[in-house]
Amino acid sequence: MLIRPRRNRKSDATRSLTRETYLMPEQLIYPLFLMDGKNIKSEVPSLPGNFRWSIDMLLPEIESCLELGLKSFILFPAVDQKFKDKTGTHGYAADNYYLKVTQEIKKRFPETCLISDVALDPYNIDGHDGIVRNGKINNDETLPILGKMAVAQAQAGFDILGPSDMMDGRIEYIRESLDDAGFVDTGIMAYTAKYASAFYGPFRDALDSAPVEGEDIPKDKKTYQMDPANKKEAIREAMLDYEEGADFMMVKPALNYLDVIHLLNENFDIPIAAYHVSGECAMLIAACQNGWLDFDKAMPETLLSIHRAGAQVILTYFAKKYAEMWKERRGDFG
Ligand code: PBG
Repeated sequence: MLIRPRRNRKSDATRSLTRETYLMPEQLIYPLFLMDGKNIKSEVPSLPGNFRWSIDMLLPEIESCLELGLKSFILFPAVDQKFKDKTGTHGYAADNYYLKVTQEIKKRFPETCLISDVALDPYNIDGHDGIVRNGKINNDETLPILGKMAVAQAQAGFDILGPSDMMDGRIEYIRESLDDAGFVDTGIMAYTAKYASAFYGPFRDALDSAPVEGEDIPKDKKTYQMDPANKKEAIREAMLDYEEGADFMMVKPALNYLDVIHLLNENFDIPIAAYHVSGECAMLIAACQNGWLDFDKAMPETLLSIHRAGAQVILTYFAKKYAEMWKERRGDFG
């Protein structure tokens, strides 16, 4: 036998020498759920180990992440029912706590990279990412609202905006709104291939943002989020977002869509992000709580596989845990 692949696997040293992929904490984005108020750290029941935070409790949490080399955070607001309306106007209201909290985090920790959520669902009384009219989502009426939200978020200090709504034409609309308002340096991480997935459940629990049941309200998000059966369509979405000025393109969820991550990474020259969504994390947590899997091994293997598939950036609820483990083990999680 001339060729023995096992020779390169014979020791820790040869394995780390020949390891093809490393994922560092700097490449992760930590999703954080916010609540208005004080002294709140309330666990999301369907996503153990993740919390809804008030700003006073959140600042020390962010500080401890920064110490671990984790610098990027995506912030999602839980919004009180009284602020919700048909067109999501609170999304760009001056007294929206989401915008104030962002300013406060940026002031205290200017070295962070803060990413926003641009979509109507936290503020929309129907629980949809677009405006509902006569039982349908009105795409074009939604765009100006997204544009206003985007400008308000840029003003608040977000570094990168994350349109998660899947309306047609919104990247261009948002880019132009930002440029017109002078925010030429605010980036856009487009949710490019966001699928109508069953894996968003814990997130919707955390924010109470699921589509509301009722007459004349679409019962799901299938007319705007993509069909899990489709791959070519992801290329079409990506071509549009690319041409409309996206700085990053995201695939969401991650694990069930590794082929899509690979496809976009092979075909486009901007960074590809993957959102390892709440349901995907919850599955792993549940199996580990049952003693069926070993978290310290299964979690890093999972994140590494998403990175290996072609995601340069990963949004994951395990970001902090991974960063803690990285500090000790420097990529050797076997
Ligand atoms: C909504 C939004 C969702 C997620 C991020 N932004 C849920 C949805 O589309 O209903 C899901 C993230 C997760 O499950 O972790 N704009």
